[in-house]
Amino acid sequence: MNRKDLLGIEDLSREEIEEILSVAESMEEILERPIKIAPTLRGITVANLFFEPSTRTLNSFALAEKRLSADYINLSASSSSILKGETLLDTAKNIQAMEVDIIVIRHSIPGAPHFLAERLDASVINAGDGAHEHPTQALLDLNTIRKKMSTFDNLKVAIIGDIEHSRVARSLILGLNKMGAKAHICGPPTLIPKWMDTFDVTINYNLEEVLPDKDIIYILRLQMERQHESFIPSIREYIKYYSLTYERLKKYASPEVLIMHAGPINRGIEIESRVADSEYSLILDQVISGVAVRMSILYLLSRQKTNEDSN
Ligand code: CP
Repeated sequence: MNRKDLLGIEDLSREEIEEILSVAESMEEILERPIKIAPTLRGITVANLFFEPSTRTLNSFALAEKRLSADYINLSASSSSILKGETLLDTAKNIQAMEVDIIVIRHSIPGAPHFLAERLDASVINAGDGAHEHPTQALLDLNTIRKKMSTFDNLKVAIIGDIEHSRVARSLILGLNKMGAKAHICGPPTLIPKWMDTFDVTINYNLEEVLPDKDIIYILRLQMERQHESFIPSIREYIKYYSLTYERLKKYASPEVLIMHAGPINRGIEIESRVADSEYSLILDQVISGVAVRMSILYLLSRQKTNEDSN
């Protein structure tokens, strides 16, 4: 991979995705050692700027940085001078001035990471920008699938739920298509955006019709915090038609199906606890993949930066 920033799956080629997944495999070897640390990023400083809440992404970036011996700092909106009126660009430039090499940013505004990437020498990694993209999530999802399936070719992945507000869905669909898999979208018509027509997907509004024959069922969180108008009549109705219950899973899905969800999960809304905690679930495997994939991305971007600095 020969790029300064990682901003979206849209920009990546299949070869770049394959390289990230291949390096992640080597990183998994480090994570299996009794002492899970390598000197790979010694001397590199990373700033994790999270202007939206996060459990998985922030902490797996922090662990990935620790495991590779990078120095890192964490900054959140509530503890930064953004609250005193400082702009995002001024904040980022001040962080960069402290000899920071890589900025990981999560922001509610789509394009915020791209805006910084154009204006900073530091590498920028998009850790989720509004409802636009969440590329590191898609890469860890692809890594989780790679470990379970022999090939991506013709793999059938159902993506169920709130597509409209989901950066996870957008990045995942792009990633699956690039790797040769097919995404099958399902959810209430009001939560499937018009722009879906431009993607290589099938669209169906009936969950029970979509479940059979799929290799993977990827459930999306119903994102109440991003719904500024009423997209569904009621939560009760959403559960009735779109919740993945154990009964539905057993009745309609293949016995070999695997279940994925990026988290956080709304238990009892988009997914029943009995499904989330079942033998079909890869939810915690996804979290495990997150550390190795983020180690891989940090390594590949820092290698590029080191090459540029020495030229
Ligand atoms: N999947 C994901 O992005 O989770 P967090 O919001 O906890 O980072």
